[in-house]
Amino acid sequence: MKFLYRYSFFLLLSVLFIQSSQAQYNSLVENIYDRERIDLNGTWKFLLDPMETGIIKRKYRRDFPADEVAKLNEGPLIEYEWDSSWDIQVPGDWNSQYKELEWYEGLAWYRKKFEAKKETGFRYFLYFEAVNYKSDVYLNGEKLGMHEGGFTPFQFEITDKIKSVNSLVLSVDNKRVTDGIPAADFDWWNYGGITRPVWVIKVPNEFIEEYTFEYDGEKINGSVVLNSASTGKKKIRIEIPELRIKETVETDKNGYAEFVFSPQKITTWSPTNPKRYEVSVSTSNDKVSELIGFRTIETKETEILLNGESVFLRGICLHEEAIGKPTRTLNWETAEELLLSAKGMNANFVRLAHYPHTEKMTRLADSLGLMVWSEIPVYWEDMDYKNPKTLALGKQMITTNYKRDKNRASIIIWSIANETPITDHRNAFLKELITTVRENDQTRLVSAALKVSHDGGVKNIDDPLGKYLDVLSINQYVGWYGNDYPDKITDVEWESNYNKPMLLSEFGAGALAGNYGDRMTRWTEEFQAYFIDETMKMGTSIPFLRGTMPWVLKDFRTPRRYHGAFQNYWNRKGFIDENGVHKQAYDVLKNWYIKIEDEAN
Ligand code: GCU
Repeated sequence: MKFLYRYSFFLLLSVLFIQSSQAQYNSLVENIYDRERIDLNGTWKFLLDPMETGIIKRKYRRDFPADEVAKLNEGPLIEYEWDSSWDIQVPGDWNSQYKELEWYEGLAWYRKKFEAKKETGFRYFLYFEAVNYKSDVYLNGEKLGMHEGGFTPFQFEITDKIKSVNSLVLSVDNKRVTDGIPAADFDWWNYGGITRPVWVIKVPNEFIEEYTFEYDGEKINGSVVLNSASTGKKKIRIEIPELRIKETVETDKNGYAEFVFSPQKITTWSPTNPKRYEVSVSTSNDKVSELIGFRTIETKETEILLNGESVFLRGICLHEEAIGKPTRTLNWETAEELLLSAKGMNANFVRLAHYPHTEKMTRLADSLGLMVWSEIPVYWEDMDYKNPKTLALGKQMITTNYKRDKNRASIIIWSIANETPITDHRNAFLKELITTVRENDQTRLVSAALKVSHDGGVKNIDDPLGKYLDVLSINQYVGWYGNDYPDKITDVEWESNYNKPMLLSEFGAGALAGNYGDRMTRWTEEFQAYFIDETMKMGTSIPFLRGTMPWVLKDFRTPRRYHGAFQNYWNRKGFIDENGVHKQAYDVLKNWYIKIEDEAN
């Protein structure tokens, strides 16, 4: 019995430790690009650790990085030294920086020494835009906490820990885990490392932590959160000069304020006119500004309405992988290159699959005029739908993704899953996630990419999850997977149990760029072009279809595509190849999207 008490006490301690050591999620500094930052990007030191010797496995399981072990009277660590270890670029996945690491899945260590001039009256946050997949973060030998999830930002306040010279050490582990999000089976490259930028954000002691601006077609409804050690009501100035808005609002004693503005005349944001306004929020000692677009998005029976007008989503799916050298890490230019390739086919909509992309993508979508589908990587059957830890992780990813991008007009759809099995556990899990989305955001649409069988005939959209979604999105591969060829695609008929808009959220066929032949021969560009053309034709017979997003803009790396002649570990359903060379299907889709736009006008 005694053992049981001791074990449960230990279990309680470890749960408390995990919660306390997690990064701060209930707060995320808003709009870091308009904040004063210490730039920690560039060359770091790097230690590969497949045997995980950097984590001291002792009965008391002290997770210290090796350079702290030396202080534990373990004697000098003879065969270990940071300064002579490998260089690595941050941001940057390790797979694309070292040929030896192209396929590496495991533990590695990063170290960055940096100087800082700490000023009184200011607070400092260590901010990671993304690290894939799991990391423990140490500053000057002290563990700040851990983070799980490869595609959303996280931060730690370091105001009381930052020194004039600092040693920042991270363990990063990209091993796939069965209770993670995603789980262990997914169709993209498992790029590991500090894949997006790292900063120290400097803000005044009392700073504007977050703000939200939403447009309901008449009024701008908003809120501000002031982070301050002192309670009491505070004054906050909101300015949108072009709308002649200059208002002072007062927070409650917790630093929270809501406001409503009724602008005389507003130009709404849309793909044809991605109008954004300079918005600034300020107090007596803090100010932050950015460009924000105002638009409405809603459904009305089977219609999707943008700013009150029916819109057809001329979309394309894309992974976060640069054109040219395959890497997860995008800079402003390579991010824009992907989105301009989508614009080039006259798309007005992008599905940023299958995880939150870098903030650069959603900010560029705002400026380029592309509506966005943003999703978290709840993906396929292997997810641990029964696990409360996995559910908590999904909710945290949704909330963090919302906090980061809530002021992006381009984002019109939050998606919570892709091709998940219809089971009781999955239904319960996804309903919880939908609730989290709606608790955060009542202004955007909620969807999920539902899976429908690959064979032809009549297809009925009867997934029970449809009841809780605003838009029903279907991945369909009739003509590629299963026994049918593209000549059978237009035989497919669609029915729906729901009076809601439908999107074809994926459809695609593989083609090796430059491989030509007849249109009934797989892997030729002609076959892929025929498949796309026939699927778009099929779409014209679906009265409740309000958008198409073919799979996929660019060929992308994946360990799951083994066909030696045509794939060689690339998914070849791209409309452009890995170097951006257009396949025939690109112009087929572009012509459809030009036609659809002309008919809509
Ligand atoms: C699935 C999945 C994609 C995958 C695609 C394919 O629908 O959602 O991630 O890459 O099919 O088979 O190529």
